[in-house]
Amino acid sequence: MEEKSKRDGFGSKIGIIAAAAGSAIGLGNIYRFPCELGNNGGAAFLLVYLIVVVFLGIPVMLSELVIGRRGQSNAVGAFKKLAPKSAWPIVGYMGVLCGFIIFAFYSTISGWTLEYIVKSVSNSFQGKDLAAMEQDFSNFHDMGWRNVMWQAIFIFLTGFVVFKGVQNGIERYAKILMPVLLVILVILGIRSATLPGAKDGLVFLFKPDFSKITGKVLISALGQGFFSLSLGMGALITYGSYIKKDDNLTSTAFSVVLSDTLIALLAGIIIFPAAFSFGINPQAGMGLVFNTIPMIFNQMMGGYWFCIIFFVLLAIAALTSTISLLEVVVAYLSEELHIKRQWATVLACVATMLIGSFASLSLKSNTSLAFGGRTVFDWMDFISSNILLPLGGVLIVLFVGWKLGKSHFFDEVTNSGKLKSPLKRVILFIIRYLAPLAIIVIFISGLIK
Ligand code: PHE
Repeated sequence: MEEKSKRDGFGSKIGIIAAAAGSAIGLGNIYRFPCELGNNGGAAFLLVYLIVVVFLGIPVMLSELVIGRRGQSNAVGAFKKLAPKSAWPIVGYMGVLCGFIIFAFYSTISGWTLEYIVKSVSNSFQGKDLAAMEQDFSNFHDMGWRNVMWQAIFIFLTGFVVFKGVQNGIERYAKILMPVLLVILVILGIRSATLPGAKDGLVFLFKPDFSKITGKVLISALGQGFFSLSLGMGALITYGSYIKKDDNLTSTAFSVVLSDTLIALLAGIIIFPAAFSFGINPQAGMGLVFNTIPMIFNQMMGGYWFCIIFFVLLAIAALTSTISLLEVVVAYLSEELHIKRQWATVLACVATMLIGSFASLSLKSNTSLAFGGRTVFDWMDFISSNILLPLGGVLIVLFVGWKLGKSHFFDEVTNSGKLKSPLKRVILFIIRYLAPLAIIVIFISGLIK
């Protein structure tokens, strides 16, 4: 008989990978990745991004899972248990704060996916050219409160799933829907790459111009890597704490990084050939994805149905990510501050709604919610992704490499000697030396710029 522990946990191996991949795969891949790539020199960015993901993403992810499973607790509690009476729990507090900020602006774009489901069902993209599509998109932004409404609905949906707990909520949804998303993306990618003039988009995506690699490109790729893999803020510490003792953490980290990167690449293969084919500027930012995708569907057999399915799945991919963001905050509030899980969920959702509405409203064309050249939305994104996540990442690897130390790390990745883990020494080396150094150097090079 399985012992019934007090903490909720993941039921099966595929469930863990699906939940962690569900956290990782989201708007970060399909929306943010193409935007960042478009704004940072195309293939040059991709190259740096891939290096970041392999050499920093895997070790940081494994470090988070190790902290979570060893600490058996939320992002703050895990540090308290593993390093009592030290300053390390600050890393956890930073993570909770960061999760809160990300949820606040992420829910804005998540809300758009709902608006676009409605648009696609009502067939409102049909026959529209690019100019009309762009006009619709900016009109939508100018309806500030409509954005806030969708955002509120999305936050409510997230709260609903988190309310129900880990196994019933998170795991069940993630397991089925992520593979369906993959299939749709492959179909879209094929359609896009075979559009007239698509080749220029593929060149932009895959042929690097090394002179484009600047400090800004480095820090953007680093921030995007952390954002896309859900690293640096304790989401995977929290999920790690729900993983069973006989699951393989290293292979989980590899699978999640691989699937996340695959989806980002697919998003690139979908967006850029089509954008070049339709004459959409790769630096169009927010409109890049939301205008390009419906344009592709307009050129496709059965486009009406595919478009609906796409936006529904995009909304679900966003949901499995917001669930992990909210879970970090709720696990902290309920375990550390002893607020009942249900009340903690309500509290966190209301607070997110209040702060998040500023992010949504700041996207109106003549907004007063902007300063220093950035809107409130952009500030939240910038501070969390390009500053807090890498900072959290450095501290997490330093913690595992130097404070938790070799024997605990090896014990955790080998499940107390039951697994082989041939890469454990290499990974520990990266965790101790390479990762902290690389993150700090990139960070500073970005600041100097
Ligand atoms: N990784 C998610 C995405 O790519 C966003 C996210 C960031 C989720 C940080 C949790 C923590 O969409």
